[in-house]
Parts: sequence; C-alpha cells; structure tokens
Amino acid sequence: MSVTSATGPELLDTGLDARIAEQEAVFLRRQPRSAELVARARRSLAGGATSNWQIAQPQAVWLTHGAGSKIYDVDGTEYVDLHGGYGVSLVGHAHPAIVRAVGERVARGTHFAQPTEDAVVVAEELARRFGLPLWRFGNSGTEATMDAVHLMRAATGRDLVIKVEGCYHGHHDSVEVSILPEADEAGPADRPIAVPGNTGIPQAVVDLVAVVGFNDAAAVARVLDENPGRVAGMIVEPVMMNAGIIPPDAGYLEAVRELLHAHGALLAFDEVKTGLTVSPGGATATLGVTPDIICLAKALGGGLPVSAIGGTAEVMGLIADGTYEQVGTFNGNPLSMAAARATLLEALTPEAYAHVERLRGRMHEQVSRVLADHDLPWHVVTIGAKGCVSFLDRPVRHLRDFHDVDERLGHLHWLVQHNGGVFLPPWGKVEQWLLSVQHQEEDADRFVANVATFAGLVKG
Ligand SMILES: Cc1ncc(COP(=O)(O)O)c(C=O)c1O
Repeated sequence: MSVTSATGPELLDTGLDARIAEQEAVFLRRQPRSAELVARARRSLAGGATSNWQIAQPQAVWLTHGAGSKIYDVDGTEYVDLHGGYGVSLVGHAHPAIVRAVGERVARGTHFAQPTEDAVVVAEELARRFGLPLWRFGNSGTEATMDAVHLMRAATGRDLVIKVEGCYHGHHDSVEVSILPEADEAGPADRPIAVPGNTGIPQAVVDLVAVVGFNDAAAVARVLDENPGRVAGMIVEPVMMNAGIIPPDAGYLEAVRELLHAHGALLAFDEVKTGLTVSPGGATATLGVTPDIICLAKALGGGLPVSAIGGTAEVMGLIADGTYEQVGTFNGNPLSMAAARATLLEALTPEAYAHVERLRGRMHEQVSRVLADHDLPWHVVTIGAKGCVSFLDRPVRHLRDFHDVDERLGHLHWLVQHNGGVFLPPWGKVEQWLLSVQHQEEDADRFVANVATFAGLVKG
C-alpha cells in the first residue's frame, strides 16, 4: 500500500461552485443522446436508470460498448475506463479469454441448477489464493455478505454483529447500517450510534448491529466486554473502499481477530472490492491476516455476476452438514463459472498483475507530483489496481476524518476527468479508480493530465 502526501501552504480556491457549474454545462452539452434516453427511461424505469448509483450528476451516462481499456457512450464519445463498473472490470472489456470462455459456454447451455466442472476449478483456485479451504458461490456481493452474517450467527448461536462505520457491505438489512451517517446523527467517534443506511430497515435489525470506528480495536474490545456471549462476529472491509481508500493501521486486523476469537466470535472480511484487485489473494494475502470467512464478488466474474464465500472447514462445515442452507437458483451458474475460471486462470496471471503494478506506480508518482507542483496538500492512496486522491491534508484513518473531505472536490474532479475523456465512478469523494490488465501507459497519462487541469481549476 502506498500513501504519499503533497505538501503546500495554500488554501483552496473558494470558487468551486462556479467551476462545478461550468463543468456540468460542458458535460451536458456533450451528451444529448444520453439526455434523450434518460427522458424516455423515466417512463418505464424507476428514476430513469437501473440502479440509483448509476445516476451520475448532472445526468446518467448511457453506454454502448467497451473494448480493452475503453468504454463508449451513446453519443459516440470514447473514455478511458477507470470506473471499472464499480470495481468489476479488472480484466478490462471484451478480454479475449473471457469472450472465448463465455462464447463456448453459451453454445453449450447456460443454466442447469446443477454443478459443472468449472465450479471446482474456481473453488480450488480461490482456496490456493486466499488460504481458506471451502467455498460456495452466489451472484452478488450482497449475497456473499448476507451469507457471511448468517454463517457467523449460525456458527455461534448469537445475534449481535459488529460492523464498522463507513463500510458498505451491500443492501441486506443486517449491514445497511451506519454506511455514511451524517456527522450530527452518528454520536461520539469512540461509541458510534447505529444509524439505518436506507429506508425500509427495521429498527429491530439495526438494534442487532454494534457499530465501531475503523482502526479502533479498543471499541471492538468494549463491545465484546459489554455484551458477553452475545456477539456472533464482526464484518469489515480489510481496506476500507467505500470512503476513498482507508488502509488498516499496522496490527489492527490481527488485534480484532484475536479479540473476537477470545470471545468465541468470528471475523469476516468483505473482500468484494479488495479481493483480486489489490493482489492475487486480495487484502488477506497482502496483509497476512486470514479471517474465518471471506466474501468475494465484483472482479471475480470478469464482468458476469458472480460472488463467492470462503471459510474455514469448521464454518463451512455448517453448510456441508446442512445446518446452514446456503442456496440460490443461480449459484454456480455455468456461464458465471466459465467466466470466473477464465478470469482467474487466463486473465489475472502473475504477468498481468506485474503490468498493473507498474501502472499503479506510474500513476501514484505522477499524480503526487502534479499535486506537489500545485501546492495542494492532498494524499494519493494506491493499492494494486485501486487508487484515489484523498482531498484532505492528513491521512484518513476512519469515517470521521473522511467527513472533513469537501465533497465538491470529488465531484469537480469527476467532471473534469469525464469531460477530459476518463470515466471515473460518479461518486467522486467516495469511490476510487480501478485499473485493468488491459490499460496502458497512455491511459494512465490521460488521467494524470486531467488531474493537472483539475488542480489548475481548484487553484484558480
Ligand atoms: C465492499 C462491498 N461489499 C459488498 C458490496 C455489495 O456488492 P453488490 O453490489 O454486488 O451486491 C459492495 C458494493 O459496492 C462493496 O463495495
């Protein structure tokens, strides 16, 4: 993990709102066909999009196709794709190995609700990479973390789950708590209040979630002490990636694992974003802390919907003996399994990871230099294929630091990148870039040039 800070004395320009208005006007002028589709879609798709998080501001961007490191919108504009479909497209677009594997599988039937051999190959490879012996599949990150929470409760016979403030684990009830709570509703930092992260979440479920700050092992110890025999386990993103990128302090993950195990509770890593993207064996391998349960999704399917849950023989034995029914019509879907096999064995090779690592280093160094040249006191945080600029003059250690980031900066950065031919995830402050194995130096350089434009605008 690499974190560097640009130093400089100057304060930010206060004309940010005006810069944003200008860039939004450019954005809208470039996308008349998307505007037409949004208007049409509003009549049949709720909100005019297929997920609320696809509605970028000022307008959702509609796409036609992708190839290699590029994606193309309905107005014919090409972008370097650093959005990566919210962390999925580590293999890039239309990767030849995925095209071949999926094409062959489509021609032989795509669904039986019976296992195919690819599922064993994928499970064996995940066991090798992540160091946990037994695996099951699902279709989304939400399903993986839902199974993880269920398994922790099933294994311990307890109901309370510890969750970190600011971690996003998908949209099931037990984890839609304290995702990005407002500062004035979240309570004290060392004793956060559990805040529903959506409407439709029963308070009775919220009451079964104990919220702690990231990098605060003492808070985990307190919850365990105050609730003897009640805590099933803790779910955490080992590197937080839904509040920029927040690395764990040295020793934090080891400490919480030890505390949980001392109290008969389990540890689940949500590696839906970090798994495969930060290294072949995810944050688990990079940080050297193996939890009881690992959740994967996103990049695993090479662009097809697939998730996985891995665990120790003891935990996954509950599935094997039928104590916990891990089920789903599409689990182990042959098309998804064929794509996952090609992703792991043909696309995400050691050479491909080395290539991504070179690009990471190039972007990290060049973006840091641009910030320093503009005397902007922000941080560049990169790990594997992931990276972000943290618009704060100090390293972010938990959500309370992250609250201090001016979200207008993330939005302006997103707009400038977009208007300059680079597609980042729309929620500029929260999200991070994703490189793929098909990106090249010129893709990275286009991004860096746009950072320079953005820095110039901010400095006025
Ligand atoms: C860390 C993490 N876990 C779980 C999820 C949920 O995954 P999905 O959207 O596939 O349900 C996400 C989605 O962004 C995520 O970032």
